[in-house]
Amino acid sequence: MNKNKCKVTTIEGKEFESVDSVSILDSALNSDLIFEYSCKTGQCGVCKTTLLEGGVIELQSQVALTDHQRKSNQILTCCCAPKTDVLIDAEDLSALHGIETKTLPARINTIKKYTADIIEVTLRLPPTANFKFLEGQYLDVLQNSIRRSYSIASTSSQKEITLLIKRFENGKMSEYWFNQAKENDLLRIEGPKGTFFLRDNSKPLLFLATGTGIAPIISILKRLEEDPDYEQSQPIIVYWGARYPQEFIWQPEFKKLNVDFVQVCSKPNDDWNGEIGYIQDIALQKQPGLVKFAVYACGSNAMIQSAKQLFTEAGLPENQFYSDAFVQSF
Ligand SMILES: Cc1cc2nc3c(=O)[nH]c(=O)nc-3n(C[C@H](O)[C@H](O)[C@H](O)COP(=O)(O)OP(=O)(O)OC[C@H]3O[C@@H](n4cnc5c(N)ncnc54)[C@H](O)[C@@H]3O)c2cc1C
Ligand code: FES
Repeated sequence: MNKNKCKVTTIEGKEFESVDSVSILDSALNSDLIFEYSCKTGQCGVCKTTLLEGGVIELQSQVALTDHQRKSNQILTCCCAPKTDVLIDAEDLSALHGIETKTLPARINTIKKYTADIIEVTLRLPPTANFKFLEGQYLDVLQNSIRRSYSIASTSSQKEITLLIKRFENGKMSEYWFNQAKENDLLRIEGPKGTFFLRDNSKPLLFLATGTGIAPIISILKRLEEDPDYEQSQPIIVYWGARYPQEFIWQPEFKKLNVDFVQVCSKPNDDWNGEIGYIQDIALQKQPGLVKFAVYACGSNAMIQSAKQLFTEAGLPENQFYSDAFVQSF
């Protein structure tokens, strides 16, 4: 069957060809251009851009778009293919150029159980793998026919890849991780993926995480700590939310970085004397000068959407809010 080929042009003047059965995002990635993305399933909204000219076909439902955004010609590049030649307002992220997505075998090195519902898994790759990533990115783990995404908690200078994994009730991959996985098991990984990485380390930085959403933030902070060229001149603040106190399985212990670390519990016990509630509400109440920060939010989609709305209503420019939502896989 003949496929309808169309030209996609970005506002910066970059061009690539796309067919009507492949999303604009995938066609861009296949042409070595990298646009903002995370879930690739229409749920997180990170790949949102404005369609300036031309028309598109919806390949999968653009769940994350509001009616107002649809009416203002916004599209999700992971969900749409071009119907005609199009002009879009997407930016090519050159920081990710040269970082190749690879499929590699990986063996489980260690499994550490923090709580009944949270484990840390380290994976070792073949010595020749040369797996490069930017701290903050994620990878897919493939086990038999199941594929799930996990953020990398280690840095690119470490030999092993560390993942923090939360158990989901009746979860297919959770069943593997929590009841079957053992050291030396052979898996496959595909990555790195996503565009959640630190853009400008000279800005004041505000990180928001729920649960295992702390994983890419640990990676980003460790990278800053390791970076001999990085001198901290601005505040770094982490708000980490969890339901129960025992879910805070990490503490920042840095020699160079000065991190203001706020733990927020939504279902505390009587001994808890930290913050209570939801991190986005607490950050909004407590954080002076919020609009000057670059905000990096990771974890539950509900937290991310609520934080984005609250913070932008409070004056934070939308382009200072970066996110990686741990949405469900299909
Ligand atoms: C970009 C990205 C990065 C991710 N990084 C991590 C990570 O670092 N650590 C981590 O623990 N998880 C992460 N996730 C989530 C992970 O990929 C799986 O979705 C999750 O582990 C559940 O998989 P499962 O097979 O156990 O459950 P499934 O079999 O997919 O689902 C089982 C049940 O849980 C519910 N469910 C599944 N996933 C979610 C969800 N995300 N939110 C709410 N309900 C859900 C389903 O509705 C269903 O009822 C990430 C997801 C994305 C998209
Ligand atoms: S909605 Fe397109 S990447 Fe999430």
